[in-house]
Amino acid sequence: MWSGWWVWALLGLCAADQFREQARRIMSDTPAVDGHNDLPWQLLKRFNNQLLAAGANLSSLEGTHTSIPKLRAGFVGGQFWSAYTPCDTQNKDSVKRTLEQIDVIHRMCQLYPETFACITSSSGFGEAWAAHKVASLVGVEGGHSIDSSLAVLRALYHLGMRYLTLTHSCNTPWADNWLVDTGADEAQSKGLSPFGKRVVKELNRLGVMVDLAHVSMATMRAVLELSKAPVIFSHSSAYAICPNRRNVPDDVLELVVSAPAAPPRPPTAPRPSKPRPRPQGLGPNQPHPRPLSQQKQNRGLVMVNFYNDYVSCQKEANLSQVADHLDHIKKVAGAEAVGLGGDFDGVTRLPAGLEDVSKYPDLVAELLRRGWSEQDVKGALANNLVRVFMEVEKASNHAAAPEEEPIALDQLEASCRTLYGYSRAPLLQPLLGALLTTTAPLLLSLHLL
Ligand SMILES: *[C@@H]1O[C@H](CO)[C@@H](O)[C@H](O)[C@H]1NC(C)=O
Ligand SMILES: *[C@@H]1O[C@H](CO)[C@@H](O)[C@H](O)[C@H]1NC(C)=O
Ligand SMILES: [Zn+2]
Repeated sequence: MWSGWWVWALLGLCAADQFREQARRIMSDTPAVDGHNDLPWQLLKRFNNQLLAAGANLSSLEGTHTSIPKLRAGFVGGQFWSAYTPCDTQNKDSVKRTLEQIDVIHRMCQLYPETFACITSSSGFGEAWAAHKVASLVGVEGGHSIDSSLAVLRALYHLGMRYLTLTHSCNTPWADNWLVDTGADEAQSKGLSPFGKRVVKELNRLGVMVDLAHVSMATMRAVLELSKAPVIFSHSSAYAICPNRRNVPDDVLELVVSAPAAPPRPPTAPRPSKPRPRPQGLGPNQPHPRPLSQQKQNRGLVMVNFYNDYVSCQKEANLSQVADHLDHIKKVAGAEAVGLGGDFDGVTRLPAGLEDVSKYPDLVAELLRRGWSEQDVKGALANNLVRVFMEVEKASNHAAAPEEEPIALDQLEASCRTLYGYSRAPLLQPLLGALLTTTAPLLLSLHLL
């Protein structure tokens, strides 16, 4: 009797080991490319971006989810490092802060050349992997980082930005954030303002991926309608599994889908939350979503966030629940739309079994255990992102004229900025004031005021 139990337990162990072994074999060929890691933010908070400070050595860094040994143990071969600056920098020093976070990413590559290779094109992945390095890219998190300037957007592109998250957790003057869908923030652009549309066109023209993590539903739809290239969600999970507004609902997943197209569904997808006005965030100026059959499919990518609150909608979560999100996105949008965007070092709670970046092979083993093919696993690890990046590059057009028209002055918060270039409006106000002061005594004397 007891020997039977022993044999089964051993078989179980062997099976577990077999998937772990298979995961490591797959990943030594196709490593993980992750969409979002906030190590640069930790470097700012802990060391004021001084990489030579005591304790800042990335080979022995402690108290973070990310270090060089953990990246190596996790078979991480590509990382979008987040150049993140919080919403309270909006209309203040957001551009300076963003430049500093891009600079610290570049200095990571310079200081640890045997580990990191800063790349700016899809062809860089293969080269980095051949040299056994972590391909490192810049993702700018938060549209406030461009301070409503297409010129700043272009400058950030030249500094290596290869995705721009259109908002963080605040509206910009031109795009709405996810808190609009919770009711915590008011809809402002109702998707994208006219300037927001120019931002998306310019990102398309340059070959910068548009990142829809953190944006409102209406903004997701407006971008999916407009973008000529596939989009990404650099760190978002599935709303159907955990109904948090940071996650991607099924009707949007159906637009992100890659070929072969998912079977059409009735356009009114059921909503898990309590009834709310259906066209949330869709104002009169916003085209009503066309039936799915008429909408183009984007061929984009949803890179799953590991933050407990987005995985289980609770404080606690585990690795298997993260796999549930991957399974769901695969089911609704297809295996080519699945990716990983752990949000390591940007969150406070992580699932049991995915505590730091060294744990990716355990997640891959779980997918294999669930019957994922090697091809689908490799897609989620790296190939889907590389494919999207290549399509974005292909859709770019550097010969086309750059977008020029600036944001309308009345959409800028003007309290601490100069307004050079906006000649008419700023001149008009002092002029009217002067006119009034000179004519008021006269008008008063005529009993006209
Ligand atoms: C980090 O520590 C390792 C091991 O002690 C050492 O070889 C390396 O030079 C250090 N790197 C930096 C940039 O301080
Ligand atoms: C993960 O959490 C879920 C929900 O609490 C639970 O049902 C499941 O057994 C857990 N899985 C593992 C492997 O711990
Ligand atoms: Zn984020």
